[in-house]
Amino acid sequence: MTIRVIQPLQAPHYDLLLSADPNKQLVDDYIKRGLCFELIFNNTVAGILVLLPTRPETLEIVNIAVSESYQGQGLGEKLIQFALAYATNHSYKTVEIGTGSTSLGQLYLYQKCGFRMTSIDRDFFLRHYQDEIVENKLVLKDMVRLSIDI
Ligand code: ACO
Ligand code: ACO
Repeated sequence: MTIRVIQPLQAPHYDLLLSADPNKQLVDDYIKRGLCFELIFNNTVAGILVLLPTRPETLEIVNIAVSESYQGQGLGEKLIQFALAYATNHSYKTVEIGTGSTSLGQLYLYQKCGFRMTSIDRDFFLRHYQDEIVENKLVLKDMVRLSIDI
């Protein structure tokens, strides 16, 4: 397994980016400003990670995804550990992540990795996403913001 900077971004990367975030406009905006990494496993692109410096000393994981066929094998956790190590090595003090309130598995994963909830951005997904998102039989409306101090 290797995690490395992507260049250039190709179709498999896009599929992964959109699996984590269906808003193409938002994705296109942050991949230009952020640092994009790919996770290579079995010689294929199995995961993606986009890190964006937001405020001084703060780095946000704006996109994280693992291909469906590789999910549940610890690769998502490896990507988060990579992000935390990157932040430490580049003198960031805080790492943030935002996810849907209906993303129950993701909320479990981020808290397992040490993230704690900081705030709720109510109606974020109603404001920024045209199509309704249904997850775990719930309509997604609110974003949960989590962070970890390193
Ligand atoms: N549902 C239930 N449990 C989950 C989920 C999930 N969606 N994701 C992770 N977990 C649990 C695993 O069961 C595992 O539990 P364990 O430690 O008790 O065995 C633990 O979290 C670690 O899981 P990994 O195998 O490391 O995670 P995985 O490689 O499957 O990747 C990821 C997790 C990236 C969330 C993957 O499910 C995915 O790509 N989902 C679709 C895209 C997505 O939702 N991305 C996040 C959006 S938010 C954002 O991008 C900022
Ligand atoms: N984990 C996962 N799913 C759950 C849980 C749970 N703990 N509780 C409910 N659900 C889901 C069910 O799967 C069901 O889903 P579905 O509609 O897709 O089929 C739905 O929620 C409704 O479930 P019910 O069968 O009506 O709930 P149940 O009779 O099991 O009661 C309760 C839920 C009261 C939370 C019960 O699990 C319980 O007593 N837990 C221990 C005490 C507890 O945690 N109480 C709440 C603490 S907070 C408070 O008291 C204010």
